[in-house]
Amino acid sequence: MKGVILAGGLGTRLYPLTHATNKHLLPVYDKPMIYYPIQTLVKAGIKEILIVVSGPHSGHFIHVLKNGKEFGIDHVEFAYQEKPNGGIADALALAEDFADHDSITTILGDNTTDADISTAVRSFKKGALIFLKEVPDPQRFGIARFAEGNPKTIVEIIEKPKSPPSKMAVTGLYIYDYQVFDFIKKCDPGFAGRNELEITEVNNFYIKANQLTWAPLKGYWLDAGTFDSLFLANAYWAKKRNPKLSRDL
Ligand code: DAU
Repeated sequence: MKGVILAGGLGTRLYPLTHATNKHLLPVYDKPMIYYPIQTLVKAGIKEILIVVSGPHSGHFIHVLKNGKEFGIDHVEFAYQEKPNGGIADALALAEDFADHDSITTILGDNTTDADISTAVRSFKKGALIFLKEVPDPQRFGIARFAEGNPKTIVEIIEKPKSPPSKMAVTGLYIYDYQVFDFIKKCDPGFAGRNELEITEVNNFYIKANQLTWAPLKGYWLDAGTFDSLFLANAYWAKKRNPKLSRDL
Protein backbone atom coordinates (compact mmCIF):
# COMPACT_ATOMS: atom_id res chain seq x y z
CA MET A 1 0.00 0.00 0.00
CA LYS A 2 1.11 3.59 -0.61
CA GLY A 3 1.16 6.29 2.07
CA VAL A 4 0.32 9.98 2.23
CA ILE A 5 1.58 12.47 4.79
CA LEU A 6 -0.40 15.69 5.05
CA ALA A 7 1.97 18.48 5.95
CA GLY A 8 0.14 21.51 4.59
CA GLY A 9 -1.64 24.17 6.62
CA LEU A 10 -0.11 27.34 8.00
CA GLY A 11 0.56 26.26 11.58
CA THR A 12 -0.99 29.48 12.88
CA ARG A 13 -1.47 27.96 16.36
CA LEU A 14 2.32 27.88 16.62
CA TYR A 15 3.06 31.48 15.59
CA PRO A 16 5.70 32.93 16.03
CA LEU A 17 7.58 29.60 15.65
CA THR A 18 6.02 28.96 12.25
CA HIS A 19 7.00 32.35 10.84
CA ALA A 20 10.49 30.89 10.41
CA THR A 21 9.68 27.48 8.96
CA ASN A 22 6.90 24.98 8.38
CA LYS A 23 5.33 23.43 11.51
CA HIS A 24 6.31 19.92 10.43
CA LEU A 25 10.00 20.82 10.37
CA LEU A 26 10.07 22.08 13.97
CA PRO A 27 12.03 19.90 16.38
CA VAL A 28 10.50 17.08 18.36
CA TYR A 29 13.51 16.27 20.55
CA ASP A 30 16.26 15.27 18.13
CA LYS A 31 14.30 15.08 14.87
CA PRO A 32 12.10 17.31 12.73
CA MET A 33 8.42 16.58 13.43
CA ILE A 34 7.82 15.01 10.00
CA TYR A 35 10.34 12.22 10.68
CA TYR A 36 7.81 10.66 13.06
CA PRO A 37 4.97 10.07 10.59
CA ILE A 38 7.54 8.94 8.02
CA GLN A 39 8.84 6.35 10.49
CA THR A 40 5.30 5.21 11.28
CA LEU A 41 4.65 4.52 7.60
CA VAL A 42 8.01 2.90 6.90
CA LYS A 43 7.60 0.67 9.99
CA ALA A 44 4.25 -0.41 8.53
CA GLY A 45 6.02 -1.49 5.34
CA ILE A 46 4.96 1.55 3.29
CA LYS A 47 7.82 2.68 1.07
CA GLU A 48 6.05 4.86 -1.52
CA ILE A 49 5.04 8.13 0.05
CA LEU A 50 3.42 11.35 -1.10
CA ILE A 51 3.96 14.40 1.09
CA VAL A 52 1.47 17.24 0.70
CA VAL A 53 2.96 20.63 1.57
CA SER A 54 1.76 24.23 1.39
CA GLY A 55 2.49 27.72 2.56
CA PRO A 56 5.51 30.00 2.44
CA HIS A 57 8.11 27.46 3.62
CA SER A 58 7.23 24.57 1.33
CA GLY A 59 10.73 24.54 -0.20
CA HIS A 60 12.29 23.72 3.18
CA PHE A 61 11.08 20.11 3.00
CA ILE A 62 13.47 19.21 0.19
CA HIS A 63 16.50 20.30 2.23
CA VAL A 64 15.44 18.06 5.08
CA LEU A 65 14.02 15.00 3.31
CA LYS A 66 15.95 14.99 0.02
CA ASN A 67 14.98 11.81 -1.87
CA GLY A 68 13.87 9.98 1.29
CA LYS A 69 16.45 7.19 0.93
CA GLU A 70 17.90 7.69 4.42
CA PHE A 71 14.49 6.84 5.87
CA GLY A 72 14.13 3.65 3.86
CA ILE A 73 11.65 5.22 1.42
CA ASP A 74 11.84 3.82 -2.11
CA HIS A 75 9.93 6.67 -3.71
CA VAL A 76 8.93 10.07 -2.36
CA GLU A 77 6.74 12.60 -4.13
CA PHE A 78 5.58 16.06 -3.14
CA ALA A 79 2.30 17.78 -3.90
CA TYR A 80 1.54 21.46 -3.30
CA GLN A 81 -1.79 22.44 -1.73
CA GLU A 82 -2.74 25.77 -3.32
CA LYS A 83 -5.03 26.91 -0.54
CA PRO A 84 -2.72 26.39 2.44
CA ASN A 85 -5.54 26.01 4.96
CA GLY A 86 -8.09 24.41 2.64
CA GLY A 87 -8.48 21.57 5.10
CA ILE A 88 -7.20 18.04 5.61
CA ALA A 89 -9.58 16.58 3.01
CA ASP A 90 -8.57 19.27 0.50
CA ALA A 91 -4.93 18.22 1.01
CA LEU A 92 -5.77 14.53 0.65
CA ALA A 93 -7.59 15.19 -2.64
CA LEU A 94 -4.17 15.84 -4.18
CA ALA A 95 -3.28 12.18 -3.67
CA GLU A 96 -5.86 10.87 -6.15
CA ASP A 97 -3.47 10.24 -9.06
CA PHE A 98 -0.76 8.96 -6.72
CA ALA A 99 -3.18 6.42 -5.17
CA ASP A 100 -3.95 5.14 -8.68
CA HIS A 101 -7.26 3.45 -7.76
CA ASP A 102 -5.73 1.68 -4.77
CA SER A 103 -6.17 2.07 -0.99
CA ILE A 104 -3.94 4.51 0.87
CA THR A 105 -2.71 4.95 4.41
CA THR A 106 -2.86 8.59 5.43
CA ILE A 107 -1.20 10.25 8.39
CA LEU A 108 -1.21 13.85 9.56
CA GLY A 109 2.24 15.41 9.58
CA ASP A 110 1.97 16.62 13.17
CA ASN A 111 1.04 13.25 14.66
CA THR A 112 3.73 11.40 16.59
CA THR A 113 3.18 7.83 17.69
CA ASP A 114 5.12 4.71 18.49
CA ALA A 115 2.18 2.49 17.52
CA ASP A 116 2.76 -0.27 15.00
CA ILE A 117 -0.02 -0.28 12.38
CA SER A 118 1.60 -2.82 10.06
CA THR A 119 -0.98 -5.57 10.73
CA ALA A 120 -3.87 -3.20 10.06
CA VAL A 121 -2.22 -2.04 6.84
CA ARG A 122 -1.58 -5.59 5.65
CA SER A 123 -5.08 -6.85 6.40
CA PHE A 124 -7.03 -3.82 5.11
CA LYS A 125 -9.53 -4.70 2.39
CA LYS A 126 -12.11 -1.95 1.84
CA GLY A 127 -13.97 1.00 3.34
CA ALA A 128 -12.21 3.11 5.96
CA LEU A 129 -10.30 2.15 9.06
CA ILE A 130 -9.63 4.84 11.67
CA PHE A 131 -7.64 4.62 14.89
CA LEU A 132 -9.02 5.96 18.16
CA LYS A 133 -7.31 6.96 21.38
CA GLU A 134 -8.81 8.02 24.70
CA VAL A 135 -7.85 11.63 25.50
CA PRO A 136 -8.32 13.91 28.51
CA ASP A 137 -9.21 16.93 26.32
CA PRO A 138 -11.83 15.74 23.80
CA GLN A 139 -12.86 19.28 22.79
CA ARG A 140 -9.62 19.47 20.76
CA PHE A 141 -10.32 16.56 18.41
CA GLY A 142 -12.74 14.70 16.18
CA ILE A 143 -14.68 12.61 18.72
CA ALA A 144 -16.60 9.37 18.21
CA ARG A 145 -20.20 8.92 19.28
CA PHE A 146 -20.98 5.22 19.72
CA ALA A 147 -24.22 3.31 19.25
CA GLU A 148 -26.04 2.95 22.57
CA GLY A 149 -24.93 -0.25 24.24
CA ASN A 150 -22.51 -1.04 21.40
CA PRO A 151 -19.11 0.65 21.66
CA LYS A 152 -17.93 -1.22 18.57
CA THR A 153 -20.11 0.86 16.27
CA ILE A 154 -19.49 4.54 15.68
CA VAL A 155 -22.66 6.34 14.64
CA GLU A 156 -21.13 9.78 14.21
CA ILE A 157 -17.86 11.69 14.49
CA ILE A 158 -18.11 15.24 15.75
CA GLU A 159 -15.31 17.70 15.07
CA LYS A 160 -14.18 19.53 18.21
CA PRO A 161 -17.45 19.04 20.12
CA LYS A 162 -18.40 21.48 22.88
CA SER A 163 -20.13 18.62 24.72
CA PRO A 164 -18.13 15.53 23.77
CA PRO A 165 -20.19 12.32 23.61
CA SER A 166 -17.07 10.27 24.54
CA LYS A 167 -13.37 10.72 25.17
CA MET A 168 -12.36 8.64 22.15
CA ALA A 169 -10.48 10.89 19.75
CA VAL A 170 -9.97 10.16 16.08
CA THR A 171 -6.22 10.18 15.64
CA GLY A 172 -4.60 11.44 12.48
CA LEU A 173 -4.01 7.96 11.04
CA TYR A 174 -6.50 6.64 8.50
CA ILE A 175 -6.66 3.87 5.94
CA TYR A 176 -9.03 4.54 3.05
CA ASP A 177 -10.08 2.71 -0.03
CA TYR A 178 -10.38 4.55 -3.32
CA GLN A 179 -13.91 5.83 -2.56
CA VAL A 180 -12.30 8.48 -0.38
CA PHE A 181 -11.74 10.71 -3.40
CA ASP A 182 -15.43 10.63 -4.33
CA PHE A 183 -16.42 11.44 -0.75
CA ILE A 184 -13.99 14.39 -0.67
CA LYS A 185 -15.70 15.80 -3.78
CA LYS A 186 -18.97 15.86 -1.78
CA CYS A 187 -17.50 17.77 1.19
CA ASP A 188 -19.00 21.07 2.26
CA PRO A 189 -16.53 23.73 3.54
CA GLY A 190 -19.19 24.84 6.03
CA PHE A 191 -19.29 21.41 7.72
CA ALA A 192 -17.46 22.41 10.93
CA GLY A 193 -17.62 26.19 10.48
CA ARG A 194 -13.91 26.53 9.59
CA ASN A 195 -14.26 27.01 5.82
CA GLU A 196 -12.19 23.85 5.35
CA LEU A 197 -12.83 20.49 3.73
CA GLU A 198 -12.89 18.33 6.86
CA ILE A 199 -11.62 14.77 7.14
CA THR A 200 -14.35 14.30 9.76
CA GLU A 201 -17.00 14.85 7.11
CA VAL A 202 -15.28 12.24 4.92
CA ASN A 203 -15.32 9.78 7.83
CA ASN A 204 -19.02 10.49 8.39
CA PHE A 205 -19.70 9.65 4.72
CA TYR A 206 -18.08 6.25 5.34
CA ILE A 207 -20.22 5.81 8.49
CA LYS A 208 -23.39 6.54 6.49
CA ALA A 209 -22.30 3.99 3.90
CA ASN A 210 -21.76 1.46 6.73
CA GLN A 211 -18.13 1.13 5.75
CA LEU A 212 -16.19 2.61 8.64
CA THR A 213 -14.44 0.43 11.18
CA TRP A 214 -12.12 1.45 13.99
CA ALA A 215 -9.28 0.05 16.04
CA PRO A 216 -7.64 1.35 19.20
CA LEU A 217 -4.26 2.97 18.55
CA LYS A 218 -1.95 0.96 20.77
CA GLY A 219 0.95 3.00 22.10
CA TYR A 220 1.84 6.59 22.66
CA TRP A 221 0.12 9.17 20.46
CA LEU A 222 0.03 12.94 20.43
CA ASP A 223 -0.45 15.58 17.79
CA ALA A 224 2.12 18.29 18.21
CA GLY A 225 0.13 21.18 16.79
CA THR A 226 -0.12 23.42 19.87
CA PHE A 227 2.55 24.78 22.22
CA ASP A 228 1.51 22.43 25.02
CA SER A 229 1.28 19.31 22.88
CA LEU A 230 4.55 20.19 21.11
CA PHE A 231 6.22 20.50 24.50
CA LEU A 232 4.73 17.19 25.71
CA ALA A 233 5.74 15.40 22.52
CA ASN A 234 9.29 16.70 22.96
CA ALA A 235 9.35 15.51 26.58
CA TYR A 236 8.01 12.06 25.67
CA TRP A 237 10.50 11.40 22.89
CA ALA A 238 13.39 12.89 24.86
CA LYS A 239 12.69 10.50 27.77
CA LYS A 240 12.20 7.56 25.45
CA ARG A 241 15.46 8.10 23.60
CA ASN A 242 17.49 9.19 26.59
CA PRO A 243 16.10 7.74 29.85
CA LYS A 244 18.79 9.59 31.81
CA LEU A 245 16.85 12.79 31.15
CA SER A 246 13.81 11.61 33.13
CA ARG A 247 14.91 12.94 36.48
CA ASP A 248 15.06 16.49 35.10
CA LEU A 249 11.77 16.54 33.20
O1 DAU B 1 -4.66 15.14 15.31
C1 DAU B 1 -5.94 14.59 15.21
C2 DAU B 1 -6.98 15.61 14.80
O2 DAU B 1 -6.52 16.24 13.58
C3 DAU B 1 -8.35 14.94 14.59
O3 DAU B 1 -8.88 14.49 15.83
C4 DAU B 1 -9.35 15.93 13.97
O4 DAU B 1 -10.52 15.25 13.66
C5 DAU B 1 -8.76 16.52 12.68
O5 DAU B 1 -9.62 17.50 12.13
C6 DAU B 1 -7.41 17.17 12.97
O6 DAU B 1 -7.65 18.28 13.81
P1 DAU B 1 -6.67 19.55 13.92
O7 DAU B 1 -7.45 20.77 14.22
O8 DAU B 1 -5.59 19.18 14.88
O9 DAU B 1 -6.08 19.67 12.46
P2 DAU B 1 -5.02 20.73 11.93
O10 DAU B 1 -5.73 21.85 11.29
O11 DAU B 1 -4.03 21.06 13.01
O12 DAU B 1 -4.26 19.90 10.81
C7 DAU B 1 -3.55 18.72 11.13
C8 DAU B 1 -2.55 18.42 10.03
O13 DAU B 1 -3.22 18.27 8.77
C9 DAU B 1 -1.51 19.49 9.82
O14 DAU B 1 -0.40 19.23 10.67
C10 DAU B 1 -1.19 19.40 8.37
C11 DAU B 1 -2.44 18.82 7.72
N1 DAU B 1 -3.21 19.86 6.99
C12 DAU B 1 -4.11 20.64 7.66
C13 DAU B 1 -4.84 21.60 6.97
C14 DAU B 1 -5.85 22.46 7.69
C15 DAU B 1 -3.00 20.01 5.63
O15 DAU B 1 -2.15 19.30 5.04
N2 DAU B 1 -3.72 20.98 4.96
C16 DAU B 1 -4.63 21.78 5.56
O16 DAU B 1 -5.26 22.62 4.88
